[in-house]
Formats: sequence, C-alpha cells, structure tokens
Amino acid sequence: MTGSLRHRFPALAGNEWARFDGPSGTQVVDSALKAMVDWIESGLTAAAGGPFAAAQECQALLDRTRVALGQLFSADPSGFSFGPNTTTFNMMFATAVSETLKPGDRIVGTRLDHDSNVTPWRRACDRSGASQVLADFDRATGVLRPESVIELIDASTKWVTVAMASNLLGTMPDLAPIIEAAHAVGAKVFVDAVAAAPHHRIDIGSLDCDVLVTSPYKWYGPHSGVLWCRPEIMDDLDWWRVRPAADSGPRKPETGMPNFEAIAGIEATVRFLLEESMESVAAYESDVFSHLWDGLARIDGVRRIGPDDGQLRAPTAAFDVDGVSPATIAARLNNEKIAVWDGHAYALEVVRHLGLEQSGGVVRAGVVRYIEHDDVDRLLEAVARIARGH
Ligand SMILES: Cc1ncc(COP(=O)(O)O)c(C=O)c1O
Repeated sequence: MTGSLRHRFPALAGNEWARFDGPSGTQVVDSALKAMVDWIESGLTAAAGGPFAAAQECQALLDRTRVALGQLFSADPSGFSFGPNTTTFNMMFATAVSETLKPGDRIVGTRLDHDSNVTPWRRACDRSGASQVLADFDRATGVLRPESVIELIDASTKWVTVAMASNLLGTMPDLAPIIEAAHAVGAKVFVDAVAAAPHHRIDIGSLDCDVLVTSPYKWYGPHSGVLWCRPEIMDDLDWWRVRPAADSGPRKPETGMPNFEAIAGIEATVRFLLEESMESVAAYESDVFSHLWDGLARIDGVRRIGPDDGQLRAPTAAFDVDGVSPATIAARLNNEKIAVWDGHAYALEVVRHLGLEQSGGVVRAGVVRYIEHDDVDRLLEAVARIARGH
C-alpha cells in the first residue's frame, strides 16, 4: 500500500484540522491548483474552437480532458460534458427527459439516493403525468438489495435512477443486475456516481449504464460537474439550448462557455488519480476506514448506521451517540478542529426511511485519501469523550 499523500494537499499544511468532510467536498490536489493558475496566467483563455491559437488551445483542453476522463472511467470520451455541478446536470437532464415521458410511464428510483437524483425526476414526472416509484433499502443494514429495485421495473419503466454509493451511509448496491433488468424492458439507467467515484474504480463500459454523473470537487478537483451520456441518447434529447449552440456531441449540454480553468484543474486531477490508481486509493482508504469503523463499534453509546459485513462500500461512516444530538456532536468536534457533518446531507429519503429526520439525522465522517490513522485516533478519542458525557 502506498503511504501518506498529505503533502500533495497544500490546504492541509500548517493546520491541525482533521477533515472528515470529504463526502461534501475534498481539498484540491497540488497539481490541479497549479494547472488552474497556470491556465489563467497562460493567456490561453478564450472561446473554444475559434480561428486563432488561444481559441484552438481551449478546444484542445476540452478534447484532452475528455480523453483523460475516458481513461479514468473506461468510457467513450465523446460522452463527457462539463458543467457547474451534478445537481444542475440532473435538473437539466430530467427536464429534457420529461419531454419524452407521458402519463402511464414510470421512473424507478431509490430511497438511498441524494435528493439530486430524486427530486428532479419527481418534477419530470409531475410535468409529464408519469409516475415515480422508489425502492426501499433495509433499515437495519442500510443495504439496498438489487431485487428491491428490479421488482419495481416493469414494461412502462422508461428510466431507472440509482446511486452507485450512498453519500450518507456508504452503501454500494450491486448495479449490474439492476442495469440488466432495466435494459431488458427497454428502460435506460441514470447512475449517480458522485459518492462512489472518489473511492473506487468505475468502468462505465462494463457497467453498461446509459448516463453517469460525478463531481470532480469530491475527488480532489475544482467545483464542477461531469456528465457522461451515451452520445446517441444525448443527440436525441430535446435539451434546452440557444440556437447557435451545438445540437449534438458533448458540447450540447454545456450551456454557454465552459469554465476552462476548472477544466484544466479536472484534467490535472484525473491525471493524479490515474498515476495514483483507483485500486491503490481504494486499498488505502479501506485500511483507514476499518480503523474508524471498528473503533466506533468499541465506544459505548455509539450506534453505527450502514453496511457492516465487509462488502464493497464507500468509506463513509454514519453514526449517532445515545443521548447527544448529531448537531451537538458536530459542534463539539468542531471545537477540537475535527470537521464532520451532521443531519441528512441532502439524503432526505435516507434519514426519513431511517426515522431520524426529527432527531437531527446522523453524524457523517468520511475517509478520503488524505485522512490518516492519527486523524481517526483523534476522532475516536473525541467521540468517546462525548459518549462518556465529558
Ligand atoms: C451522492 C451525491 N449525489 C449528488 C450530489 C450533488 O452534487 P453537486 O454538489 O455536484 O450538485 C452529491 C453532493 O453531495 C452527492 O453526494
């Protein structure tokens, strides 16, 4: 296993913060920071594809970054589009799909999903007269069995919208049988990979999904969103666009001028992950996460919420402490320079299904590549003190 990479994250240098807030956004890797500054300083900023050198360099940056993303995610590079974040893409995608839906059509989603993969589809259904049904996960284990999604898929199903990982519980459902069942009835599959992509290698080609979204700011890049869509599906969609904008290809969903400096950062981040390799990221994080997850189990009064049997998961720990609200725990940890989130983290359906909405949701502590054993020790000691009532 490779060792510490803390030195690659300038924002972590010279402060004592333990940043378990990775699932809501990671710190930026040094090479991406440099690439963004270099890009802006270079004078290459222009509008892509024009008749002079800088404009051609902008186009080259888009092309290069798509190829790099294609390598990272084993996908057709011409399917990648750049945008401000995943939620905006989901809203726009679901709006475009709503034009194709009619009363009687069905969208199958899950209660495990972040709201950005739930509400846009509900609104698409409201507009079109289609209906949305959501598969439940198991309350006791946090596991979403593929069968609970598959049994909702019928001949009227047009889209299946699923999370590759829960941003709150870390659960990673087995998507292969779900995708197979959807395709068997002619439905398409939209995968929210935001909470999975920072932690595991994703092979879009073998997964055989139709659309996949991910946010580079969750994997050490700048705030931005990336959408991969089968080119023929994007070409067919009636995406809202101005008349001179592209009507086909990956520029179609990119309303207006792309954020080139962010894209320069995305390219550098993708190269960082390719060099580091997602397999080695996963192995490193799995070791640190076990230390956290097992340590939480040893603290009296702590209840861990989420998959617990060694299956594939994102290294995100959700927990609560008997008699102390999640908000109080997060505030106490903040006093000790330990960053965690409390609440629902936009996974509204998850906390509702767990019956935790009124009690303030959960505490969420995420492991990413720069979290180390000493950070986990600090977190565990602080949680143990809180649980003991000190
Ligand atoms: C699983 C998941 N999906 C979607 C989103 C939304 O991402 P964005 O902030 O890029 O819109 C998040 C953000 O936390 C997430 O964790």
